[in-house]
Amino acid sequence: MSGFGNEHSSEDPRCPGALPEGQVFVLQLPEILTAVLVSLIHLFSLSWMYRILPSVCHKPFQPVDQGYLTHNWDEAEPEPNQLRWKPFEIPITTQRKVDFVTGLHTLCGAGEPRSRNGLAIHVFTCNTSMSNSCFYNSDGDFLIVPQQGELLITTEFGKLLVEPNEICVIQQGMRFSVEVSGETRGYVLEVYGVHFELPDLGPIGANGLANPRDFLVPVAWYEDRQVAGGYTIINKYLGKLFAAQQNCSPFNVVAWHGNYTPYKYNLSNFMVINSVAFDHADPSIFTVLTAKSTRPGVAVADFVIFPPRWGVATNTFRPPYYHRNCMSEFMGLIKGTYEAKEQGFLPGGGTLHSMMTPHGPDAVCFEKASTSKLQPERVAEGTMAFMFETSFNLALTNWALKTSLDKSYYKCWESLKSHFNAKHK
Ligand SMILES: *[C@@H]1O[C@H](CO)[C@@H](O)[C@H](O)[C@H]1NC(C)=O
Ligand SMILES: *[C@@H]1O[C@H](CO)[C@@H](O)[C@H](O)[C@H]1NC(C)=O
Ligand SMILES: [Fe+2]
Repeated sequence: MSGFGNEHSSEDPRCPGALPEGQVFVLQLPEILTAVLVSLIHLFSLSWMYRILPSVCHKPFQPVDQGYLTHNWDEAEPEPNQLRWKPFEIPITTQRKVDFVTGLHTLCGAGEPRSRNGLAIHVFTCNTSMSNSCFYNSDGDFLIVPQQGELLITTEFGKLLVEPNEICVIQQGMRFSVEVSGETRGYVLEVYGVHFELPDLGPIGANGLANPRDFLVPVAWYEDRQVAGGYTIINKYLGKLFAAQQNCSPFNVVAWHGNYTPYKYNLSNFMVINSVAFDHADPSIFTVLTAKSTRPGVAVADFVIFPPRWGVATNTFRPPYYHRNCMSEFMGLIKGTYEAKEQGFLPGGGTLHSMMTPHGPDAVCFEKASTSKLQPERVAEGTMAFMFETSFNLALTNWALKTSLDKSYYKCWESLKSHFNAKHK
């Protein structure tokens, strides 16, 4: 099924007729499926789920170890430098089995879930499937960007297979469990109090960027499974992890309808808009999804990609211009080689350019782009870089400053030479 932001409905094909017609309460049906309202975020964002037992049947939640997951933005000193991380390490060398939840590491963030305003950027590295356990986030929505290894995500709404170069969004409150098939790594953008939506297209009009039809939602899937040893429900609540036991699988939704669902998107479907005459266009033309703030023009977070495309602009320095700006920019690389940094920025790694911190193409890219003959050429072939851009000023965690940080990053600009010539016109 496909669509975005609209009403969907689905029933497990093994249960034809599970989805009631024309009404939402179906308690009078002999099979006694119970309707549970997930969440009423705003007027038209809700889903009804018809399930075997409601989610409320569980033992009390208890705090559990949360590893490197945090929203304590005061644990490390502020760090205004340009930062680059080598590929975040996958726990293959450790003896510990790490799954999606225990493999979540918070890199940076701002704001907080109590007042429902802010975001966090996490990295996940894992090699083990979640077993008889699921996760849900009371704090916000997860936009998940797998970089290595596919994720088979079972949700209350059905299953999503999400491969590198696809993304998925699992919204506040939705329960999900992640299976992996080996060493797995990716990035998570979490936003508190807002949801992702398509950017306003303005003069672009009806077609372009991410098209609504390419967002896929799952087909209902349920299991009626008792779990002798107990099924663990993990909850992130006000930044802390809690766990509760219950006797059955939470994936017992036989049918559902509504417009509040998880969804996935294949980044290859992005219709790229670019400069076809001169000058470098602002990267906002590459926005896939935005989580708007209440201030016009500045988002809580934008998810932006730099896909393969043609470079055709003439009489122009084609790579990104040097800049300092009022946003914080975290970049990651899913595959390939990012055109403005051909060395040092590797798949599975990242960079952070904070508010008003200068950045731009490295010296090698500058020389190459300043002297090469401007012909139409393919840019970013075989590459997918992305940016989480935010109007918040991001605080780093202790983990971010300890893990794979590349201390030599600043050197990529050191050999930039002046080409100034007072007589040049
Ligand atoms: C994950 O790593 C642990 C520790 O090396 C190992 O015991 C386990 O078999 C690995 N799991 C997978 C799915 O590769
Ligand atoms: C994403 O789309 C591309 C282009 O259509 C296709 O080649 C690729 O197989 C798709 N990926 C998935 C996981 O479906
Ligand atoms: Fe930038």
